[in-house]
Amino acid sequence: MTGINLKRAAIVDVQAGENVTIVEPANVYGCALGDGVFVGPFVEIQRGVRVGARTRIQSHSFVCELVEIGEDCVIAHGVMFINDPFATGGPAKGRRELWKSTRIGSRVSIGSNATIMPVSVCDDVVIGAGAVVTKDIDVPGFYVGNPARLLRRLDADPSKREKHGRQ
Ligand SMILES: CC(C)(COP(=O)(O)OP(=O)(O)OC[C@H]1O[C@@H](n2cnc3c(N)ncnc32)[C@H](O)[C@@H]1OP(=O)(O)O)[C@@H](O)C(=O)NCCC(=O)NCCS
Repeated sequence: MTGINLKRAAIVDVQAGENVTIVEPANVYGCALGDGVFVGPFVEIQRGVRVGARTRIQSHSFVCELVEIGEDCVIAHGVMFINDPFATGGPAKGRRELWKSTRIGSRVSIGSNATIMPVSVCDDVVIGAGAVVTKDIDVPGFYVGNPARLLRRLDADPSKREKHGRQ
């Protein structure tokens, strides 16, 4: 295999709490995973990422550097986080000062195939499948679309969150 610089996906230098599950193949390095975190297959989690207790990161998701995720979150399949917004007309090409960070609160569920630009998301948020989140989210609720917009607020009382009037 001359000419090919082969690197293997690996689980390296992970600070893991109790009862953490990682399904291989996954490329997970230099990050901190809280108690009970689940990481599905074909996930990459990069250096410096912190994932709170009991959060589940489902298959094919990409969690880049400068991302912090709270507790009891669900990051569904194929969710893409972004730290390099190409704001100067292209990739930062190693100029880390151009990267931006993302903070996801606790009890946040992010639907499959969503893209999360560098933003801050408060606790108790649902982001719909395929959404592109381009702005900070400060109000608990459901957000859908590209760019993501508030669909409806999330009731502060969990017992009132069931939708009514549906078959
Ligand atoms: C966002 C979500 C939670 C909303 O669910 P809901 O409250 O039952 O919403 P509804 O189906 O009643 O739809 C309400 C409106 O939002 C729209 N909508 C719902 N989900 C949407 C989405 N992901 N993107 C864009 N629009 C969406 C609907 O088209 C509907 O629009 P309308 O009022 O103009 O007809 C859900 O649709 C979703 O995307 N869940 C993600 C699930 C997921 O990815 N799971 C991963 C594990 S399998």
